This record gives sequence, C-alpha cells and structure tokens, in this order.
Amino acid sequence: MLKKPRQPVIHGADAFAAMRKAGRFTAEILDYITPFVKPGITTGEIDRLCHDYHVAHGAVPGPLGFHGYPKSICTSVNHVICHGVPGDLVLKDGDIINIDVTPIVDHWFGDSSRMFLVGDVSGVARDLVKATYEAMMRGIGAVKPDATLGDVGHAIQSFAEGRGYSIVRDFAGHGIGRTMHTVPQVLHYGSPGTDLRLEPGMFFTIEPMLNIGKPDARILADGWTVVTRDGSLSAQFEHTVAVTETGVEIFTLSPNGWNAPPYT
Ligand code: MF3
Ligand code: CO
Ligand code: CO
Repeated sequence: MLKKPRQPVIHGADAFAAMRKAGRFTAEILDYITPFVKPGITTGEIDRLCHDYHVAHGAVPGPLGFHGYPKSICTSVNHVICHGVPGDLVLKDGDIINIDVTPIVDHWFGDSSRMFLVGDVSGVARDLVKATYEAMMRGIGAVKPDATLGDVGHAIQSFAEGRGYSIVRDFAGHGIGRTMHTVPQVLHYGSPGTDLRLEPGMFFTIEPMLNIGKPDARILADGWTVVTRDGSLSAQFEHTVAVTETGVEIFTLSPNGWNAPPYT
C-alpha cells in the first residue's frame, strides 16, 4: 500500500511545467462554462458540458468515481458549502453557485473553483462572494518561502472575520500534484508563525469557504452535499498554487481574466 507522505513533496522544474499545463486547463474549463451559467440551466447540464469538455481535450475529470463520487464536477448552490452533486436543480435568478473542477491532465491534477452570480443577485450575496475571493487572495498573498501555513490561515481568517463572515473549519485546502489530495492540510484559519514552514516547490490549494451565518456544516443524506446548518449563504473560491523562490505562482489563473465576477 502506498501511504500518504508525512512531509510535503518538494517539486522540481518538470513538475512545475506539468502543473502549469494542468492548471491552465482547469481554468479553461471554468472559462468555457461561464456563459452557460444562467437562469434555467440545471446543475446536471453544467456537469455534462464540463464532463464533455474534459473528454474532448484528452483530460479526465478527477471527481468522477473518486471515493464513489457520482459526477465529474461539484456544483454548490446558495447554502451549499461544497461538494454539491450536480442533478436536476434548475438555476434561478438570484442564485449564487460555486463550480469546482479537478481535471487530471497527463497524470497531474489541477483544482479550482469560482463563484457565479445567476441573473440579478442581492447585494448581501454579492458582498459575500466578493469577500470570499478577497479572502482567498489574501491567503495566496501570504505564500512565500519561510512563511508558514499559519500565516496563510491567519491572512484569510482575519480578513473574513473582520468583514463579519464565518470560516468553515470542517474542510481545508490540500497538497496536490499526481494525487488530488495529499499533505499538507491547508487550514483557512490560524495563527501567524505556526504550522508548516513553506519551501519553494510545495504545491497546494487554497479554497476558503465563508458563511454569512454560523460556520457549522452538515452533510446531506446523499453522503456528499455539505450545507450550512443554519441555512445561511456560503461561498468559496479555490486556486492551485506553488511556493516559488520569490513568492507564489498561481497555476489556475483564468486566461480570460475571469477569476472573480463580473465575468464580462
Ligand atoms: N475539488 C474538490 C476539492 O477542492 C474535491 C472534489 S472530489 C469530490 O478538494 F469527490 F468531492 F468531488
Ligand atoms: Co481542492
Ligand atoms: Co476543488
């Protein structure tokens, strides 16, 4: 049996090249699906379009069959925190949705998600989405050699809580590469100077989930869908990043510049 390494892998130039490719493709899927995210489409149709886009480009959707997961992407609408399973749900005016894609490209995983505003969205929901993107970017901004994961978590937490949002604690970012989920665990809260010290060549995701209400989560009977216990709105963004000699490289930046709404 292969075991998870306890120490994060320090990747070299070939791995960076492979992850640039996987990360770009990851972002291209999200760019591709953007014009389809409108009132009237179902999450199942979004899944089908994304699935076919993977296949048409020689990639494999990582989630499909992962621990029995039944679909190719995750679609998390409104009070769904993460791992929403695509199906018959019809998007309607005013919804917010997270689309999370995790393709395998030449055996390397990319992992990224963005929020989408469906039609005319309330100011309260738009503010949450904006703050969640900003929280992720604050976390990414703290990534550099000799910083710690505690610095990253603190940057996210202090920003999000300062805006009055709560941070989901039950799910974390993760090391990534030739496996979808590996060490380190990347918490979206923490204290400066604590936790793992960062070194060039580490690859991981940063994917904070912010709630308007309480941070508590609950899993639905389907065994996957994670919702807020209090029914409050939740938002998430995710990038796959590397620690570099000078700071951070984001592998999953949008070629179209569509990293956060509005996507125009
Ligand atoms: N993309 C998710 C993450 O950010 C994982 C999807 S795998 C699934 O880690 F099975 F949950 F869909
Ligand atoms: Co992830
Ligand atoms: Co993801």
